[in-house]
Amino acid sequence: MSDDDSTDINEADESAAVGVKLGSTRTVFDISDGRGGRERHLTLTCLATYEDAITGDERVLFGREAAIEYPDAVRFILRSGLPEDDESVADAERFFEAIVDAHDVSAESAVVYAVPTIDNEAGVENLKSVIEGSSIGRGETRCYPESLCGALPAYGDGLDAIGEVFVSVNMGSTTLEACAYRRGEQLSPFSTGSVTGNEVDRWIVAAIEEESQDRVHVDRTTAREYKEKHADVDDFEPFADVVQQPGGGSHEFTVDRGVREPIDRYIDDAVDAVANEFLPALANDYTKPYQLALGRPIAVTGGMACIPGLTEEFEARLSAELDRDVEVVSPDDPATAAAEGAARIAERLI
Ligand SMILES: Nc1ncnc2c1ncn2[C@@H]1O[C@H](COP(=O)(O)OP(=O)(O)OP(=O)(O)O)[C@@H](O)[C@H]1O
Ligand SMILES: [Mg+2]
Repeated sequence: MSDDDSTDINEADESAAVGVKLGSTRTVFDISDGRGGRERHLTLTCLATYEDAITGDERVLFGREAAIEYPDAVRFILRSGLPEDDESVADAERFFEAIVDAHDVSAESAVVYAVPTIDNEAGVENLKSVIEGSSIGRGETRCYPESLCGALPAYGDGLDAIGEVFVSVNMGSTTLEACAYRRGEQLSPFSTGSVTGNEVDRWIVAAIEEESQDRVHVDRTTAREYKEKHADVDDFEPFADVVQQPGGGSHEFTVDRGVREPIDRYIDDAVDAVANEFLPALANDYTKPYQLALGRPIAVTGGMACIPGLTEEFEARLSAELDRDVEVVSPDDPATAAAEGAARIAERLI
């Protein structure tokens, strides 16, 4: 959309609704496609700066280009979805402005941000200053919890889930979060940094070393790519890859347990955290809402829920652990659902 046809959001122009999910791995924008529909854009949440070879000015590169061209200097900006110190605020401002520019987001947009549920007032304040300083800070801006936004598409179209009592679990790269919602209010928010996608990547590195009897060492980016491409709970196919040997020549190897076992362990750990840490706290503080919420499907979102078969296996093991049948639902695209849900809220705000 050019500046000329940007319209006043007071005229209920839904194309001015923007949903944003800021994640430590990827940032997702849900915006109008300019043809009456919507589209989602994923960008790695990182930037690199370099000096212009001709003018000497400092230039900024962001996303995948930055990660690939400047592995030595790339900075992943957010550690938990929120900027934590002055330096990351400055980085977040530049990153954010670059994406807003790239996607031509209207200055008058109503923007809803999906943010982590953790109690991080300083982080939310920092995010607000980033948003207010940005060129889309002129319209309405609000923050909602990521696990609430992500749950909306898991439960269907529209915003119905906001009026209900339910439990939502978000499986991200640096945290696993679980929270109950009662008509949009957070009950017993829980977050752990020990059951995470990043941790799985580290386990894959170690498991491949073990499986190859120390002949193969992959880095964590490669491990993440193996996971995102090959992990599959029910239909995992062992796959081959090739590494160059330090002394020359190449070595072909097959990965089987190297990906399967870390995923298996992740599901066990996730079940353990939800069944034995989060749910007991919820039951203790809000006994009736806990019963209500467990009688409904639990929403599971976040990038790790993209792994085929993971939510079904999580459902089976959680039911076994709780000794009662619970149902688990996930949105069509768990990695971008939070941005989609945020955009639905933004449409409503307009
Ligand atoms: N298709 C996929 N298959 C398997 N894993 C995936 C897939 N897509 C993303 N992931 C994994 O999900 C994790 C990222 O999830 P998500 O995008 O929800 O996290 P985030 O919001 O960036 O992180 P955080 O919530 O910690 O800030 C990473 O570990 C990533 O490798
Ligand atoms: Mg996240």
